[in-house]
Amino acid sequence: MKVKLEELRATAITAIAAAKNDDELYEIERSFTGRKGQLTALLKGLKDLSNEDKRIVGPLANKIKDDLQIEVGKRSAELKKEAFDAMSGAFFDASLPGNRPVVGRLHPITKFIQEIEDTFLSLNFDIAEGPEVEDDYHNFTALNIPEDHPARDMQDTLWAKNIPYLLRTHTSPVQIRYMESHKPPIRVVCPGRVYRKDDVDATHSPMFHQFEGLMIDKTTNLAHLKGILTVALRRLIHPDLELRFRSSYFPFVEPGMEVDVTCVMCNGDGCHVCKRSGWIEMLGCGMVHPNVMKSVGLDPQEYQGFAFGAGIERLLMIKFQINDIRLFFENDPRFLEQFPQI
Ligand code: PHE
Repeated sequence: MKVKLEELRATAITAIAAAKNDDELYEIERSFTGRKGQLTALLKGLKDLSNEDKRIVGPLANKIKDDLQIEVGKRSAELKKEAFDAMSGAFFDASLPGNRPVVGRLHPITKFIQEIEDTFLSLNFDIAEGPEVEDDYHNFTALNIPEDHPARDMQDTLWAKNIPYLLRTHTSPVQIRYMESHKPPIRVVCPGRVYRKDDVDATHSPMFHQFEGLMIDKTTNLAHLKGILTVALRRLIHPDLELRFRSSYFPFVEPGMEVDVTCVMCNGDGCHVCKRSGWIEMLGCGMVHPNVMKSVGLDPQEYQGFAFGAGIERLLMIKFQINDIRLFFENDPRFLEQFPQI
């Protein structure tokens, strides 16, 4: 038995040394030390040996198993080196460019929020944020949208169960929070996430981003609103952008307006994107309603000002001619990589 074992060791070592690749090597190892291998088969005869012989043959068999494993390891390393040498010999070209490492980048929305902040900081505005989980008072009541007011239906609200909270439907509650904690003169811009009970499609998402602007002082008027918005949107979208103010309704402003901008696709000539009008609807704005002033303890006889609120995805879609809002949330690198980064 001892002789047979030694013979087996020798044949195995020769076979291992001759293996031409990892698959072959693995096959050879299995054919000797596997459950149905030659070594196992040989050891079946162990039970017929005397106790004394068992004490010698047993450990020898284990030793052979270990040795073969070491041989397999060695051959595997050799094969790797051979493969590497073969590659680096004939066609290794040290002048070829390496693989460019993939580096992280800011999401276009994050990046755009930074641009909004830079733009408004340069206009002497402060930046503020508010909670995404809001109470009814800040999201509606203080904004001149009392209970049962039909305007509450204008935005489909996501309410929390059993507690009097909701996911804010716009960034306007941050106006209220800011006015509660700051005295005029006020200049603030508030970017953040908002939520609405909308089904997802190419232009709707139950979560999106807005930025809110608010300026309050004793003489702040529509000319300031027009000036600030023109400067900011030209910087954020396109230097040649023209703005058009159209009268509209929001409960928290009076007068209320919507701002259209010249279509970036056709430069105002009319195309399918702007439905041949040359204009694209951009944001809502107006002069802060006296009731809103009163709700934060400001005297509307003494103070006045403007507010505006714009959708960030919408703005980016117009700026970069993106036709599906879902692209912002799928995080496909092929989409994300197309945005300029500094
Ligand atoms: N909060 C409004 C909306 O989400 C936008 C808006 C803000 C309008 C401020 C007027 C003034 O649609």
